[in-house]
Amino acid sequence: MLFKLFITGTKSRLRCTSVMSSLNEAKKLAAYRAVDEHVLDGHVVGIGSGSTAVFAVNRLAERFKQENIKIKCIPTSFQSRQLIISHGLPLIDLELQPELDVCIDGADEVDRNLTLIKGGGGCLLQEKIVASCSKKLVIIADYTKDSQKLGEQYKKGIPIEVSPMAYVPIKMRIERNFGGTVVLREAVMKAGPVVTDNGNFILDWRDYNPDYDWKSVNLELLQMPGVVETGLFVDMAEIVYFGMKDGSVKITPHPNNYVDKIC
Ligand code: A5P
Repeated sequence: MLFKLFITGTKSRLRCTSVMSSLNEAKKLAAYRAVDEHVLDGHVVGIGSGSTAVFAVNRLAERFKQENIKIKCIPTSFQSRQLIISHGLPLIDLELQPELDVCIDGADEVDRNLTLIKGGGGCLLQEKIVASCSKKLVIIADYTKDSQKLGEQYKKGIPIEVSPMAYVPIKMRIERNFGGTVVLREAVMKAGPVVTDNGNFILDWRDYNPDYDWKSVNLELLQMPGVVETGLFVDMAEIVYFGMKDGSVKITPHPNNYVDKIC
């Protein structure tokens, strides 16, 4: 009996390890291809956050050393700043360089219009600022992020960064105006809520109507006092690279080739 349990446990651990390695392989494929196709010598590059962005930084560091490309990197979070520094890449900020050539970042989910959910790792505000200052936002992701509609695969909700004093009224207003459930994101190794790199809280909005017009929902959310930024990236991504299970890369450009920019 004990032996049977041991075998079953080992099999499920092996299955889990092989899924993880296939996901990591997919992330790496997408990241390497995107960096190779979009980063040129002399570029100012926005560095996204999350586990897929790590592969992009690895590739940038390889090219920086092997091809001697001159790039400058702008981080989108504490994590990506650390990645840039630890890989010996040149670090710069928006004060010195307010316009970027390209920003390479991950996403939690991508729908058929290339609307993104971002902020699963809590870094959406700086990610959106840096992306909005970039000539193009290139998204890198594994095959599990590729959806027709938002919420199809990513069940943790749409992240919304809010001022701490306003989290309860905002939660109530979103539930009343749009339905679904809004939860305050709790920290894992700390009692209490997640506090973002900017000192704010994150609300995760779940069980929303997947057929919403995300552009207008996003604008309405942004008008609520206390909402700092949303994890809805509408008409921002120019192209998405999905690393697939079979080792290929699916490349999806924005359907209208239209991308909003503030800079
Ligand atoms: C960070 O807050 C996010 O916006 C990430 O870009 C997103 O969560 C994707 O992360 P992974 O690459 O780890 O899936």
